[in-house]
Amino acid sequence: MSDNEIIRAIKARRSIRKYSGESISPGAIEDILEAGRWAPSGLDNQPWRFSVITDARSKEQLAPLTAYSRIVKECAACIAVFYHLPDGYDRDKDAMAIGACVQNMLLAAASLGLGAVWLGEILKRKAEARDLLGVDDSCELMAVIAIGHPAESPRSSRKRLSSLILKQ
Ligand SMILES: Cc1cc2nc3c(=O)[nH]c(=O)nc-3n(C[C@H](O)[C@H](O)[C@H](O)COP(=O)(O)O)c2cc1C
Repeated sequence: MSDNEIIRAIKARRSIRKYSGESISPGAIEDILEAGRWAPSGLDNQPWRFSVITDARSKEQLAPLTAYSRIVKECAACIAVFYHLPDGYDRDKDAMAIGACVQNMLLAAASLGLGAVWLGEILKRKAEARDLLGVDDSCELMAVIAIGHPAESPRSSRKRLSSLILKQ
């Protein structure tokens, strides 16, 4: 089985939900956003937009909108990832591109020694979250990424590859 730096990084990334409380440098946030920006997208339409939340007050306000409020409060930064509707051409394909963008950012965070988790549950209250962040309705919230210095090393497993390959 092949094993190179990228494949090892993909397999080693875990969702991190506990953080040390240490802040993250603006340079690290920029590196993470840069990784998101280089995701593939259908027709190269790059339909993603980002809002970065680092101040405690904004995180406190965002937290009640999700069952994962502890994570939002304790992380050093949240990146809210939006779908910029005027750039959209196909909702399914645009959503997949934004998923690729999120995964790029999760991998970038891990590569910098940071811990991150993709928060999807907050989408139940996505319009409230968007309003709170001062983003207008040309954008739809697709995900929030919580990031911090990791204070846990969780394990994970995956379904066996043989069970994922459909028989003809
Ligand atoms: C679309 C999506 C939504 C998710 N939403 C949440 C969430 O709201 N809260 C959470 O704690 N984890 C969330 N996760 C993280 C998953 O629980 C996690 O990726 C999965 O359990 C596998 O663990 P791993 O990332 O450590 O490999 C989400 C992941 C994805 C891809």
